[in-house]
Amino acid sequence: MAHEIIIAPSILSSDFAKLGEEVRAVDKAGGDWIHVDVMDGHFVPNITIGPEVVQALRPHSKKPFDVHLMIAPCDPYLEPFAKAGSDMITVHAEAGPHLDRSLQYIKSLGKKAGVAITPSTPETAVAYVLDKVDHILVMTVNPGFGGQSFIPAQLHKIRAIRKMIGSRPIHIEVDGGINTETAPLVVEAGANILVAGSAVFKSSAYADNIAAIRKAAMRARAAAA
Ligand code: DX5
Ligand code: ZN
Repeated sequence: MAHEIIIAPSILSSDFAKLGEEVRAVDKAGGDWIHVDVMDGHFVPNITIGPEVVQALRPHSKKPFDVHLMIAPCDPYLEPFAKAGSDMITVHAEAGPHLDRSLQYIKSLGKKAGVAITPSTPETAVAYVLDKVDHILVMTVNPGFGGQSFIPAQLHKIRAIRKMIGSRPIHIEVDGGINTETAPLVVEAGANILVAGSAVFKSSAYADNIAAIRKAAMRARAAAA
């Protein structure tokens, strides 16, 4: 059975001067998860937010907080992000040599665990952690910034991961350049969690923007059925 389509607005593209309000707005607009991009200026060339900000945002929505850690090392920050109210914590396979340990750690904190891979990392990087993840995040841009163009070669990787997963209950998440044009492509390839930053926050009509991405994704799903 295919997983349901989940749209996760990335608050990276929101107005940081009013983050709480933005989280409430995308929640009300129909976003399923709130995607939080954490960057350290080391693993990626940008710096965003830390656990205190996640904690401050937590009361603004009951929707799951999907925290994407683009930081290295990640292990020292897993507990702070868990305690801050993250529901899902995703670490990068490229962030350190002990991915298996990081994933076990996330699980021990009682959170859903995800592994992310950048565009140049092959799908084999996740082959031996399939028993430890709830989702695999395929980056469809190079992590660090919102508003970049989707990299089509990642579609092949999504298909390969779909195959590798088999009947395991693992979600495939995609992040980067997702909009009404690319959503059908990634869904057709096997993704079901769609992160979208600029496509949601491009205009004040968040509900319309989210609905349009969902509609495009569902249409691809229906066509494939
Ligand atoms: C990129 C982040 C993404 C980003 C997506 O490093 O992980 O979540 O916000 O933004 P768009 O949808 O604008 O590509
Ligand atoms: Zn992200």
